[in-house]
Amino acid sequence: MGSLKNEEKIELMGEEWTEEAILYVNGVRKVLPDGLAHLTLIEYLRDIGLTGTKLGCGEGGCGACTVMVSHYDKKSKKCVHYAVNACLAPLYSVEGMHVITVEGVGNRKHGLHPIQESFARAHGSQCGFCTPGFIMSMYALLRSSQTAPTEEQIEECLAGNLCRCTGYRPIVDAFRVFSKTNDAVYTNMSSLSLKEGEFVCPSTGKPCSCRPEIGSNVHPCKEGVACGRTYEPVSYSEIDGSTYTEKELIFPPDLLLRKLNPLKLSGFGGLKWYRPLELQHLLELKLKYPDAKLLVGNSEVGIEMRLKRMQYQVLISVTHVPELNVLSVKDDGLEIGAAVRLTELLKTFRKLVNERPADETSSCKAFIEQLKWFAGTQIKNVASVGGNICTASPISDLNPLWMASRAKFQIIDSKGNIRMALAEDFFLGYRKVNMASDEILLSIFLPWTRRFEFVKEFKQAHRREDDIAIVNAGMRVYLEEKGVELIVLDASIAYGGVAPLSISASKTKEFIIGKNWTHELLQSALKILQTDIVIKEDAPGGMVEFRRSLTLSFFFKFFLWVSHQMDGNKSVRESVPSTHLSAVQPFHRPSVIGSQDYDIIKHGTSVGSPEVHLSAKLQVTGEAEYTDDTPMPSHGLHAALVMSRKPHARILSIDDSGARSSPGFVGIYFSEDVPGDNTIGPVVYDEELFASEVVTCVGQVIGVVVADTHENAKLAARSVHIEYEELPAILSIRDAIEAKSFHPNTEKRLNKGDVDICFQSGQCDIIIEGEVHMGGQEHFYLEPHSSFVWTLDGGNEVHMISSTQAPQKHQKYVAHVLGLPMSKVVCKTKRIGGGFGGKETRSALFAAVASVPSYLLNRPVKITLDRDIDMMISGQRHSFLGKYKVGFTNEGKVMALDLEIYNNAGNSLDLSLAILERAMFHSHNVYEIPNVRILGRVCFTNYPSHTAFRGFGGPQGMLIAENWIQRIAVELGKSPEEIREINFQGEGSITHYGQKLEFCTLAPLWNELKVSCDFLNARKEAEIFNLNNRWKKRGVAMVPTKFGISFTLKLMNQAGALVHVYTDGTVLVTHGGVEMGQGLHTKVAQVAASAFNIPLSSVFISETSTDKVPNASPTAASASSDMYGAAVLDACEQIKARMEPIASKNNFSSFAELASACYVERIDLSAHGFYITPEIGFDWNVGKGTPFRYFTYGAAFAEVEIDTLTGDFHTRAANVILDLGYSLNPAIDVGQIEGAFIQGLGWLALEEMKWGDAAHKWIPSGHLYTCGPGSYKIPSLNDVPFKFNVSLLKGHPNVKAIHSSKAVGEPPFFLASSVFFAIKDAIMAARAETGHSEWFPLDSPATPERIRMACLDEFTAPFISDGYRPKLSV
Ligand SMILES: Cc1cc2nc3c(=O)[nH]c(=O)nc-3n(C[C@H](O)[C@H](O)[C@H](O)COP(=O)(O)OP(=O)(O)OC[C@H]3O[C@@H](n4cnc5c(N)ncnc54)[C@H](O)[C@@H]3O)c2cc1C
Ligand code: FES
Ligand code: FES
Repeated sequence: MGSLKNEEKIELMGEEWTEEAILYVNGVRKVLPDGLAHLTLIEYLRDIGLTGTKLGCGEGGCGACTVMVSHYDKKSKKCVHYAVNACLAPLYSVEGMHVITVEGVGNRKHGLHPIQESFARAHGSQCGFCTPGFIMSMYALLRSSQTAPTEEQIEECLAGNLCRCTGYRPIVDAFRVFSKTNDAVYTNMSSLSLKEGEFVCPSTGKPCSCRPEIGSNVHPCKEGVACGRTYEPVSYSEIDGSTYTEKELIFPPDLLLRKLNPLKLSGFGGLKWYRPLELQHLLELKLKYPDAKLLVGNSEVGIEMRLKRMQYQVLISVTHVPELNVLSVKDDGLEIGAAVRLTELLKTFRKLVNERPADETSSCKAFIEQLKWFAGTQIKNVASVGGNICTASPISDLNPLWMASRAKFQIIDSKGNIRMALAEDFFLGYRKVNMASDEILLSIFLPWTRRFEFVKEFKQAHRREDDIAIVNAGMRVYLEEKGVELIVLDASIAYGGVAPLSISASKTKEFIIGKNWTHELLQSALKILQTDIVIKEDAPGGMVEFRRSLTLSFFFKFFLWVSHQMDGNKSVRESVPSTHLSAVQPFHRPSVIGSQDYDIIKHGTSVGSPEVHLSAKLQVTGEAEYTDDTPMPSHGLHAALVMSRKPHARILSIDDSGARSSPGFVGIYFSEDVPGDNTIGPVVYDEELFASEVVTCVGQVIGVVVADTHENAKLAARSVHIEYEELPAILSIRDAIEAKSFHPNTEKRLNKGDVDICFQSGQCDIIIEGEVHMGGQEHFYLEPHSSFVWTLDGGNEVHMISSTQAPQKHQKYVAHVLGLPMSKVVCKTKRIGGGFGGKETRSALFAAVASVPSYLLNRPVKITLDRDIDMMISGQRHSFLGKYKVGFTNEGKVMALDLEIYNNAGNSLDLSLAILERAMFHSHNVYEIPNVRILGRVCFTNYPSHTAFRGFGGPQGMLIAENWIQRIAVELGKSPEEIREINFQGEGSITHYGQKLEFCTLAPLWNELKVSCDFLNARKEAEIFNLNNRWKKRGVAMVPTKFGISFTLKLMNQAGALVHVYTDGTVLVTHGGVEMGQGLHTKVAQVAASAFNIPLSSVFISETSTDKVPNASPTAASASSDMYGAAVLDACEQIKARMEPIASKNNFSSFAELASACYVERIDLSAHGFYITPEIGFDWNVGKGTPFRYFTYGAAFAEVEIDTLTGDFHTRAANVILDLGYSLNPAIDVGQIEGAFIQGLGWLALEEMKWGDAAHKWIPSGHLYTCGPGSYKIPSLNDVPFKFNVSLLKGHPNVKAIHSSKAVGEPPFFLASSVFFAIKDAIMAARAETGHSEWFPLDSPATPERIRMACLDEFTAPFISDGYRPKLSV
């Protein structure tokens, strides 16, 4: 290795660099101009019109942006295909490669790929925003597999893809057909090779013969959705009939022959990009640019630049430097080049474990296990070993393992001098390593383990899959037999997540070396560990007690694991008792299986059929357009927000000079620029469009900047300097109660009977009091808020396309802030990528903000929020505090409930009062209580305004009820299910707000569920399991629900629709509801098809638009199918009545003929339909009425298993049953149930919002810490119950809604509380082991922290005192 030359040499070397960069996209050659080094691949793809690739988060955490990259590997002489996140891949990183996007896989014109076909048919897409990402992950897996993948590989490849709508089960079903169970399906021969009468069932992947009988309305199959139809891949062109596989994009021959060149390119702001091909060139560059960042996967640097706003001037892509890519098996270990990708490393380890003696590969096995839970596949495909080491993150999953396994790092300086450093000594401080600025990491040497040398990995995260660790560890012990003793010759114990760097527990290590491996060693080592690893009270990341206890639990597990490995060895004095093996058994997840059981009750041509979502084909091909996909005209501008950084402060001054001199800047606007009224609000006008004098939350909008690009707009907005005078902030419900900080006129009361008399009269044998705390929840719709606004006729009219559940609100807000009449403002919404309530009111703010510059400049303006901003400022599900006092008899009959409910509304009222009211209505869930008193208050806090979210307060109200039900059971020593049953409401029950229950189906539902889940047996089996397992516990629970259907504000229960019949017999429907994935348009189209007795394919639902149907209520409250279905039916009936005289005169062979004949007779074939929900109304003055048209009932069973040492849990089984009357579309309804259940599971067990409040002092005051998929964990595929069965109650038509159906969107959400209470049941079993049988509070979400810390044992005892309750932002 020559040493460095000098500066001039580099300049001379410059001759060798080239700026010629090319890329193939979907088989088309693209020349990449210089100057784009700042761009990510997704920005480029979307700029060239390939908008099928979606931007969900921009931080590698959701997978919506997945594309497949292929390159030719000269070493193996093979094309390599892999999935990557286009949002993190720098554009030039794929130079010389082939990128295939969803558009390159298949499309409707030329034929869907079998993957797309199967996905659509299996109901795998709802809102469809995540869909292209799933298709591409699966596509890359298939293209990179020589044989059909296993089911396990399929689930593994989807670990980096999130879906917020479906609950994942149909996605797995869609892809399962490509697994080993039937690999023929991937070829076009599959359907041909099946025998007549045989069909491929996507649920099992095997041929079956359970398709519905032709003409039959009743589906005979348990797995109705999956097996509902023949699997016929339309993998041929609809135009020319050619087979799809003939069109599969091949690797471009041009790239096979092309020689790679070293690249020297540039980007925005003087950014330099190099891609050296030789180590020498790399070293020389590093000397010249000591601050340069080396790039491999960009999964750290990309995040630093995007989210942490770090600015780097020189980036050196080292992916092609051969010395950094070695993987060399030596006699004494493995040499791993620093740029080796994690997927490659994983493959190598797996191979070595198979090939080498078991004694040698203990470290390799530990790495394999750790890498299983390391990020998603897309990240592992690009992220490097060196990138992970050199970042030196305190929560790196691999660094503690390198330290434990005696790895050495080979470091080279710019002169070519090489030195070795022990991994154990390499990490110096927070993101600081033992490397000089001119040094780089060349490779890692991992020695083989020896006989009786054991290495083990540990990791506990919020979510098992694709999550960063809370605490992780790597541990090693090297034992020697000495007579009857096992002596520790050497050891390493390294932890991550407990300090600013990965650290060794050196005192513990020193203590155990030389000692005999016995329980005495364990006990002493645990004591030393407590002082060895100290986490400060205010340590960043919080959860201090949990983290401390994990350090002990991990060591305990390690001790048992090693002892178990040595079991049977003569030197081991004590073997591991079988009940303790549960501490070391690894988590194994079988592939998801589920059944969907329902009747098909058809009404006419289409109603009742399990039709596929009308947009499914558009979604699987990436052709479905969302707001941000709207092409930008050449004079269009991008908007970015100027936001408050303080929770409560007076604005002293605003200096916008920085913004004005920013590149691409066009304009900046504040409150004084608003042409109309700056005061806004969906119910009361208590917000400002732009804060004028005082800000009341972090993220409050103060102004808007418009610029030529999205990035430039954001840069300019960040350059605005604002001076504040800080004011006291209210940052929790407790603060608000103390300060009496409530929104005006929001105190509400409901009463039934007389609670005080009941408590005093002795009717109650026992009276309990307690508090229920529950955190909020982020909507995490995959498509962030987006609006595109433009003016017409010189500003006389304003039009917009918006991602909203309420186009009418956008119209109203924009008209209001611009001072225009509503008649001149139009809002259109084609579809949205999920809403869940988050786009009911808050979205209107962003449209209104964008409308100001658009109107003033007369130019189109697009605003699309980045994920972190979206989460930070657009509001969430309300956190709630419930204070209850409940009196009951010794039998468990509830006699009186006295309840106070508080919700955290944030800084404006928004819908918080209606949400509180619904919580009050639902706070008895399904229980008959003679005496009820409820007081509700809406708390004003200095947070962004919280808003609607699926269930709209109902789930919070019901969760409080189920908490005290569970407590009564503990107090009486009975099962909660018994308490539930004896308190059930029934037919004719009168609620505490005066509504009589009619057609109550609670009892049949409950009984059916009890039988289908074999509840008594399930409980018995859990008890047996618990007896035999000390450190894993199982719990079971059954929970009922009753959800009121209607908007509780009477005026909102109205709906309009417009139906046109054309002379070719097709029907165009528009209505006031928004398609957000819930299948509303599909159901409504089914209603129209059945009304006219035509096939569903003859009906088209156009976009929702305020100029077609005026004054529409938001699409919310689950009632849209009821209301818009009825409005469309009304319009259809009107047209049918007009057609009738013609129809009755002739025998028309088709609807087209009839329509033409009517046209000839000058009959109006267009009608406006209208519907109002009858017989509802509620008077708050008397607290009585009928707020709901009817109730949707349901019940669920869940069985969970928890790891009591770490808090890890999984749901082994969930059975859900719902009464949906005669379903309009059972496939869509099942999708809603599964999606709601999984979303509810997220709320109750995974998703924790962490705000800068008194409980989280390490977060800046009022800021949201959990503002991206990196820190906020919605359920992934791994969180779906192993067995997930859904059934619809049969034989109970609903007389109160269209075609006897019932509403479905929100009701199943709360049923996920069965998982929460099953977790609590399991915790109780764990606590019983240490003699704790008393009731205890479990706040939601029941994250690993709360689960573990509630399982009191010797590993929690040193860190907590009585009454300890993990911190929660409420
Ligand atoms: C969604 C997501 C999930 C993640 N999950 C995990 C996880 O579960 N566990 C975990 O530990 N990490 C995780 N990470 C962090 C990250 O993916 C890993 O640290 C990864 O290994 C970094 O590799 P890279 O090649 O992408 O690094 P890059 O971003 O390309 O580089 C990172 C840093 O390393 C330096 N560097 C790279 N190579 C060298 C070298 N040879 N010599 C000197 N310096 C070098 C660069 O200068 C840069 O500072 C995750 C990241 C994301 C975005
Ligand atoms: S947008 Fe790329 S992973 Fe989310
Ligand atoms: S369908 Fe997956 S996020 Fe909507």
